[in-house]
Amino acid sequence: DDSAASADGASSTNTNSDRQAGQIARETARRRTFGIISHPDAGKTTLTEKLLLFSGAIQLAGTVKGRKSGRHATSDWMDIEKQRGISVASSVMQFEFREHVINLLDTPGHQDFSEDTYRVLTAVDSALMVIDAAKGVEEQTIKLLDVCRMRDTPIVTFMNKMDRETRDPLELLDEVESVLKIECAPVTWPIGMGKNFRGVYHLLKDEIMLFKAGEEKADGAFEIVKGIDNPKLAEMFPLEIEQLKMEVELVHGASHVFDLERFLSGVQTPVFFGSAINNFGVREILSALVDWAPAPRERDATVRAVAPVEPKFSGFVFKIQANMDPAHRDRIAFLRVCSGRFEKGMKVKHLRLGREVKLSSVVTFMASSREQVEEAYAGDIIGLPNHGNMQIGDSFSEGELLTFTGIPYFAPELFRTVRIRNPLKVKQLHKGLQQLGEEGAVQVFKPVLGSDLILGAVGVLQFEVVASRLLNEYGVDAVFESSSISSARWVSSEDKKSLSDFENQLGHQVAYDAAGNMAFLATSGVNLRLTQERWPKLTFHATREHA
Ligand code: G4P
Repeated sequence: DDSAASADGASSTNTNSDRQAGQIARETARRRTFGIISHPDAGKTTLTEKLLLFSGAIQLAGTVKGRKSGRHATSDWMDIEKQRGISVASSVMQFEFREHVINLLDTPGHQDFSEDTYRVLTAVDSALMVIDAAKGVEEQTIKLLDVCRMRDTPIVTFMNKMDRETRDPLELLDEVESVLKIECAPVTWPIGMGKNFRGVYHLLKDEIMLFKAGEEKADGAFEIVKGIDNPKLAEMFPLEIEQLKMEVELVHGASHVFDLERFLSGVQTPVFFGSAINNFGVREILSALVDWAPAPRERDATVRAVAPVEPKFSGFVFKIQANMDPAHRDRIAFLRVCSGRFEKGMKVKHLRLGREVKLSSVVTFMASSREQVEEAYAGDIIGLPNHGNMQIGDSFSEGELLTFTGIPYFAPELFRTVRIRNPLKVKQLHKGLQQLGEEGAVQVFKPVLGSDLILGAVGVLQFEVVASRLLNEYGVDAVFESSSISSARWVSSEDKKSLSDFENQLGHQVAYDAAGNMAFLATSGVNLRLTQERWPKLTFHATREHA
């Protein structure tokens, strides 16, 4: 009868949602989403290849980026990228390791890195810092680590290139601690270096992994010798083992012991030594990411924090990539899933536009190809086709009104004024710059007085990308000229009168960005300081969050 049927229906719905909750919890717990931070040439590309090798995602190393040939297997998208032989855009690679789903987000490491590089780090749960052991801490690593610190992102450190003459390992740890202001907890310790590199000693396991050059094996199985006092070692390399024992004593006395809580709160980094090109020490860092790095965590949104295991889907766009597939000239919005389960074809709400969209042709990023995604969970990155209506920072949900916070725009450090050769194209120029500004490719400022637009970037390459895209996508031949601006700060105040006085008095230096936020364009450090002193009721911000 009727009542029996409805009672049955209710209980089966219950078990269904229980089952689904269990699945979401399991899938979330096995996800690790991280990015690599490093200075150019430290070995990020090499390491990425080896990481993919472990997962069986690629058969041969060398497919991530054919360096000298200038070929890009995973990011062969933009002309300019091919010309420069560097990766303008970050990409995403998903692979499995030890029953875990790993999402590796590429953070371009060229000198001319862009704002994308920074923003990718807002979508990760941990980071792998790669340091060239011959060079130590370099400039770009410092910048990227600063960004990680904004969210206390846990960092695993890999000291690379131990097969070369490197700096003294103790000195390297000292430098990381003093320059990057993060505690080091060595987990492996090198035995010798360069020609005399013998392997690493695992401080927690008390075992020695012997180095053999040129390992291309996916499992990276190296010979292991148990115990630092094992007589076998003294036979094999008597000199180095004495040295190792001395150093280990020093290390035990002078450095930090690994502490999971301190790592998870971003104040301590476990340190591993190895050689990416020899696939040596790589599995250890992958294991550290799986064993120690966090699964997706709670994310802050405007109304509340969102837990990854909530049943309803939500996520935010952290990057927009143009022309990934030259055949389609499409744009892809990279969305980080923050909660629930994404299912192909589901309808979600684009919260800024207040519009429902059906996500049917969404892509995921399996190592080297773009594949249609069937489902995704917190920590995963999915690519949404974007016809110009998505912006960085846009949030999506199953209906709840929430906006994820913490997706930063950084005050640009480089400025150009834009001029066009053909004045009839001024409308296209404005349209193009508006869209590129919304995408976050470059920051566009319109001064209150004067007709020139001012472009701001954190990497010089961004200007080249914009020039090439203006020409190819909008048919605008633009010339960028040096500008007298040296820095920019976003301006806010509770005091509306101060704001409007400021705008009226300094119209040439007050501008609005593509999202309509007021900014002050300073001509020098002194100019900025004096202005701040003169306008005490205004607050000057070096970053702004997408609102
Ligand atoms: P990046 O992405 O961080 O810029 O670095 P990439 O992996 O491209 O490595 C930069 C250079 O360092 C490459 O040499 C690479 O082979 C080398 N390298 C990476 N890991 C190691 C290592 O463990 N030991 C040694 N000795 N070298 C390493 P290249 O000459 O610029 O390119 P290639 O022609 O060798 O590919």
